[in-house]
Amino acid sequence: MAPKLAIDGGTPVVAPGSVRSWPPLNQADRDAVLAVFDSDHLHGTHAPRALELETKWAEYIGTKYALVTNSGTASIHMAVAAVGIGPGDEVITSAFTYWSTAAAVLHHNAIPVFADIDPKTFTIDPALIEERITEHTKAILPVHIHGMPCDMDPILEIARKHGLVVIGDACQAHGATYKGAKVGSMEDVGCFSCNRSKNLSGGEGGLFTTNNADYVKYADMLRQFGEVLMPNTKREYNAYALGWMYRPHEFVNAFILSQLTRLDENNAKRREFAAYLTKELADIPGFAGPYTPDYADPCYFSYVVEFKPEELGIDAPVREFRVAMEAALAAEGVGMGQWQSMPVPAQDVFKDRVGYGKGCPWTCPFGSGEVRYDASEYPKTWAFIDAHSYLAGVYPPNEMGLMERYVEGFRKVSENAGRVMELSKG
Ligand SMILES: Cc1ncc(COP(=O)(O)O)c(C=O)c1O
Repeated sequence: MAPKLAIDGGTPVVAPGSVRSWPPLNQADRDAVLAVFDSDHLHGTHAPRALELETKWAEYIGTKYALVTNSGTASIHMAVAAVGIGPGDEVITSAFTYWSTAAAVLHHNAIPVFADIDPKTFTIDPALIEERITEHTKAILPVHIHGMPCDMDPILEIARKHGLVVIGDACQAHGATYKGAKVGSMEDVGCFSCNRSKNLSGGEGGLFTTNNADYVKYADMLRQFGEVLMPNTKREYNAYALGWMYRPHEFVNAFILSQLTRLDENNAKRREFAAYLTKELADIPGFAGPYTPDYADPCYFSYVVEFKPEELGIDAPVREFRVAMEAALAAEGVGMGQWQSMPVPAQDVFKDRVGYGKGCPWTCPFGSGEVRYDASEYPKTWAFIDAHSYLAGVYPPNEMGLMERYVEGFRKVSENAGRVMELSKG
């Protein structure tokens, strides 16, 4: 007799407590953080760990410069300001991202404009960018989402043709490559988050990369109140521009430096797990792993699963099928997560154009007044969200054994899909 579904009273395939959390920690991480206490440097723009991390991250990504920051959002905001985007300027970004990408644009009183995604790669569709360009457009802000590099050549080509700056949101893509180049190295500025969940984790934190000496100089100044701080030089206490406090402390820098020594090893594990899962899911009706274009070596911040009711002959809307299957998979111990529930421009902050108030930035003196947000303009993002979730725990310290159990869970649920749908109707 076929094993009974866990949602139907059977035994879960993945035993409770089998999935370990990210990031994997070791004694070297603990020692690195504790050493900060005895270092005489708890913080500082030119503190030793800040400078070491900046050197090592620039070297890793392949840029001339890097700055440490206290979040990915801070890095993007610094980038927007450093490249000269100002009130009323428009920045084209992806409708499928975490909304902080667009918030960083709004924080500088500039106007986010969204383009829909390529449904296969879930990144911004380069073919939809040019139609969004107006006389107010200053930049393109592609997002390497879920660790998948954007198709950079056409994006860079459009930017060159129209004289636009490119800021890469690589918050989810540490070590992902496009045609061999690391994301964050091809753009005018690259921005990374180091919050707890990210491939390179510092608990919180961020990184900023560029080859442009003017951008790094200006961003550095904005990172600390708009002041210029020189090593071994008396502080002037004079702000040259409106800056913020976007510096991280040395505990974070120490932790990230320690994690960086294992970034490639950890990414290799994520890739190994992803390759295995994708191969196995191809033979399990109802599910598929992510498509990988030839140009990309993703770093699998999230492992994305597609739900395909038609493969099981189930005549239900894909969202309904996905929700029913997720419940059955969760009962088996196969945790699936929905990362975004709608395109970013469908969120209330855009629908109601809530910025600094009094119409800013949309109708402030420099805004065109013409940018509005219509949720129906992003059908591919909606369709992607309906049909996809990410699979939890596809990273070390979890091991291949867990991936094998996951595959068993998918197979069991697929073989009992009719019963899963029946149960979902109550
Ligand atoms: C795509 C994307 N952009 C920006 C951010 C913002 O990063 P942080 O949370 O470090 O500010 C995140 C973080 O979750 C993200 O996933």
